[in-house]
Amino acid sequence: MKASFWHKCWERNSLGFHQEQVHPFLSQYLLPLMNKQDRHVFVPLCGKSLDMFWLAQHMKVSGSELSDIACRDFFVDANIDAQTRLYQESDAAEPFTQFFFDNITLWQGDFFKLDTKALTLDDAAPINWIYDRAALIALPLEMRQAYIDHLISFIGAETKLFLISIEFPPAEMSGPPFSLTEKDVSELFLSADKGCQIDCLAKRDIPDKRFGQRQFDVSYLRESLYIITKS
Ligand SMILES: C[S@@+](CC[C@H](N)C(=O)[O-])C[C@H]1O[C@@H](n2cnc3c(N)ncnc32)[C@H](O)[C@@H]1O
Repeated sequence: MKASFWHKCWERNSLGFHQEQVHPFLSQYLLPLMNKQDRHVFVPLCGKSLDMFWLAQHMKVSGSELSDIACRDFFVDANIDAQTRLYQESDAAEPFTQFFFDNITLWQGDFFKLDTKALTLDDAAPINWIYDRAALIALPLEMRQAYIDHLISFIGAETKLFLISIEFPPAEMSGPPFSLTEKDVSELFLSADKGCQIDCLAKRDIPDKRFGQRQFDVSYLRESLYIITKS
């Protein structure tokens, strides 16, 4: 998907992926897995996900998002008057606009140009969690490996990736979102880093086949949760 595709989605308010409720996996699975010392969660391709408000009750949140409309609306929709500042590591580096309030900072710009150093500049809090809901599955096959290769660079020894993905018969619907099987997940992560450990924690059929604000006309829609670490 090109950047222009996503900018158009935000300009037209065509946000079928956006959920009006916090994802139930957060309290069901993330909360019991969290440690008291976990301080920082990174949310790639974050959109204006309300999940970030849930996460911010427990940790500092750093989101990465291409669209300035998304970053602005995330705070405006919640009646929060966020501040902005420009971040550019060097003249040659990609500029980012940071939208920030309290312990949430959204880095507006291209995820592929963002690095872990920028996210840990302020207080050196290492990234304990990465939360991926509708990020990997938003990308077509030809972009997946590049996304994982870059994502892996944010995973340190203390980081766990909480990955929520969906699966459906690909012939029945063209994406985004794109279907992702357990085998796809293994292949993607193991070709990025042979030392990755992948645990499938949950798999459930979504009975009404709803994803965000859309209902899909597919024979099945399955949601899976993976926890991925570097061993
Ligand atoms: C399917 S949406 C998912 C948003 C969010 N994770 C959620 O659950 O609502 C994918 C998001 O990724 C953003 N995006 C796409 N390419 C990006 C890139 N290269 N860098 C940062 N964000 C990007 C889009 O603007 C869009 O908001």
